[in-house]
Amino acid sequence: MKLAVVILAAGLGKRMKSKVPKVLHSVLGRPMIAYVLDAVRKISSDSVVVVVGHGAEDVKKIIGLEGISYVEQERQLGTGHAANCASGILSGFIGNVLILNGDYPLITSKSIKKFISEHEKSGSGVSVLTSVVENPTGYGRVVRDGLGDVERIVEERDATSEERKITEINSGAYCAKSSFLWDALSGISSRNKQKEYYLTDIIEIASNNGRKVSGILASDSDEMLGVNDRIQLSVIEAILKKRTNDALMRSGVTMVDPSSTYISPGVNIGADTTIYPHTYIYGDSRIGKGSTIGPSVWIEDSKLGDGAVVKSSCYITQSVIKKDVTIGPFTHVRPQARIMDGAKIGNFVEIKKSSVGAGSKVPHLSYVGDAKLGKNVNVGAGTITCNYDGYDKYETIIGDGAFIGSDTMLVAPIRLGRGATTGAGSTITKDVPEGGLAIGRARQKIIENWRAKPRRKD
Ligand code: UD1
Ligand code: CA
Repeated sequence: MKLAVVILAAGLGKRMKSKVPKVLHSVLGRPMIAYVLDAVRKISSDSVVVVVGHGAEDVKKIIGLEGISYVEQERQLGTGHAANCASGILSGFIGNVLILNGDYPLITSKSIKKFISEHEKSGSGVSVLTSVVENPTGYGRVVRDGLGDVERIVEERDATSEERKITEINSGAYCAKSSFLWDALSGISSRNKQKEYYLTDIIEIASNNGRKVSGILASDSDEMLGVNDRIQLSVIEAILKKRTNDALMRSGVTMVDPSSTYISPGVNIGADTTIYPHTYIYGDSRIGKGSTIGPSVWIEDSKLGDGAVVKSSCYITQSVIKKDVTIGPFTHVRPQARIMDGAKIGNFVEIKKSSVGAGSKVPHLSYVGDAKLGKNVNVGAGTITCNYDGYDKYETIIGDGAFIGSDTMLVAPIRLGRGATTGAGSTITKDVPEGGLAIGRARQKIIENWRAKPRRKD
């Protein structure tokens, strides 16, 4: 049977106390809705519709347009109203409609697939994914009749004290036949404590109309944990962190302290790599085999080859670092840096939008920006590429095997040929030819017996 997916993501999430729409709050460096979409992308569906409202433009920008249709819920009148916003775009669709909340990032494609197949087997008009939890506070409770069939879902605020004792909760995932769904949604009211249109009411409508309803128990109750406040956000992050770190450790990565190691799911790390504490590896990143990272390192959207050594307190973003490179301690590798095989970038160095050739060394206290360094270049301590005149940025090009004396100021645009040398303390403003030596500093003067002269009369 055909399948359409509707993801509800229009709410602000009042309990988050934030200007940022709830579904964009991040879990291990990614907005929580990205996880729900990942799971959805792994199941085959004919259409994916995301209902947006609060921060709609930001949500669209962050999750992108590929394979997704958006509908806007202008006023957040409740989950039932939100789901109904997708009725127009899906009016011609005949099949099952899977409705998911955007706020449970732990849900997996495996559970969704199982839920859909059980719904299909049951022949129900609507199925709801449920879970039995120790503490059901905040969730809608699943009310079953004497025969164990699902009768309705009652929200906590509308529940009697007896109903509140029910520990089977509504996870917020539903699968319904399109022929039933849109009719049912047009029949719900907002007569409840929150004066909202509850999506959950379609369950009662179905059972009142003699339609079969299935309450399908999820096999992993953790997956169903929703995020309504920042405490739940931290709980979910801890669960996902453990899941991700355990999988990496099983694949051959050593983590000295997994509890303080934060890695986005999907980051690939090679075997025999060791990660020291307080390290974050986020986004579209990869680390090769046999590397050593940390402690206290931040790596984001960067690719590091095998044998990388990133020492304490480095910050690396949007860069490519090839094989056997040593970085740090205390190094800032900014976007668009390319560090080639065997290079060494040492302490208190900043690299930006530059390539550093194989075997080159920038070991201490330097700024290298908008530069291209060839192979086996040695950059002395305190060297700076003066790349900015207050209006524009200019390039520095340094040939293979060049030797840059300590404390050289390279005033860009500038080009140094292969094997060029600069004298320590030079300010270089003109190109240096291949093999040439450039010295640009005041000649040293000696004044004899300077100390012996009386400097003032007492
Ligand atoms: C909802 C369920 C509850 C269930 C819980 C599971 C209802 C009435 N209640 O409660 O039974 O146990 O999820 O986590 O459905 N949204 C919109 N537009 C709106 C309102 C909400 O798009 O007008 C979106 C939110 O962005 C969110 C999702 O719907 O992604 C769920 O909304 P939320 O307010 O978190 O519902 P809960 O109170 O958690
Ligand atoms: Ca919720």
